[in-house]
Amino acid sequence: MHQRIVPSDPEFWTRARRHLLKYGGEFVDFVPVRAEGAFLYDDAGRRVLDFTSGQMSAVLGHSHPEIVATVRNGIGRLDHLFSSMLSRPVVDLAEALARLVPQLPKVMLLSTGGEANEAAIKLAKLVTGGWEVVGFAQSWHGMTGAAASATYKAGRRGYGPMAAGCFAIPAPNPYRPRFPGVDWQTELNDAFDLLDRQSTGNLACFIAEPILSSGGIIELPEGYLAALKKKCVERGMLLILDEAQTGMGRTGTMFAFERDGVVPDILVLSKTLGAGLPLAAVMTTDEISQAADDRGFLFYTTHVNDRCRQWLG
Ligand SMILES: Cc1ncc(COP(=O)(O)O)c(C=O)c1O
Repeated sequence: MHQRIVPSDPEFWTRARRHLLKYGGEFVDFVPVRAEGAFLYDDAGRRVLDFTSGQMSAVLGHSHPEIVATVRNGIGRLDHLFSSMLSRPVVDLAEALARLVPQLPKVMLLSTGGEANEAAIKLAKLVTGGWEVVGFAQSWHGMTGAAASATYKAGRRGYGPMAAGCFAIPAPNPYRPRFPGVDWQTELNDAFDLLDRQSTGNLACFIAEPILSSGGIIELPEGYLAALKKKCVERGMLLILDEAQTGMGRTGTMFAFERDGVVPDILVLSKTLGAGLPLAAVMTTDEISQAADDRGFLFYTTHVNDRCRQWLG
């Protein structure tokens, strides 16, 4: 940052305070009018190095010329469609994603992380016949119903009951271990023992971030994901990995799960997939897709597989 940012334009802030519903603390005293690459500019020409946009996931910076050209072209030719109508770019993008994870060739394109987790959890419930959802106690999966019910980092108080059948286990934390001296496998075994005692026998899925991001950048130790997957298989649960923050090459591999050689049953991509634009994907296996179809899976939203989803295709 070149200089200290001081609140400017009192009239703007008066109007903002008058008309904007607050949703998460204070607004920042810097009002960008333009963005380019890694920088934001205000109308006084002040430049700020931006680590924040896309909620820390604008991996290509701002206004990349190819993205600008693609969006301009797309919106000018075919802007949006009836949800039962497909366009070629949607299939192209689904195919491109499936090439990255050949084990998960079935793709649904959505807008936000919360929405995509919602779809993933619904899919898991329908296919397993269960309805209990387990997550990490430091997780963030979104602000909508089932995603919020599986989010334990924040936002649980004041809104009445969460979805029935939600459970949390602690994520192993090498920096601030919950039980110093206890190895992660013992901790995991103990957590699942407790879970098994509480479950009514209707476990549907475990939803996990391979690196818990909002929860404090907690990296799961090597081997943990494989052990977690084993626990899921033993109980007939599906493993959902939420790679909102870690997907698309952010951790050295295309997806964080590749480090561990564990493929989830359902992979959820958002944030980094759109590099700041609202684009999300739910990916799964042929078998899960078929089972869901047999049971009449419904996730019919206004923008599912919409033409705009081809932005980055
Ligand atoms: C791992 C993870 N999943 C899901 C979400 C929710 O995504 P969205 O805000 O696009 O609904 C977030 C948002 O911070 C996230 O960090």
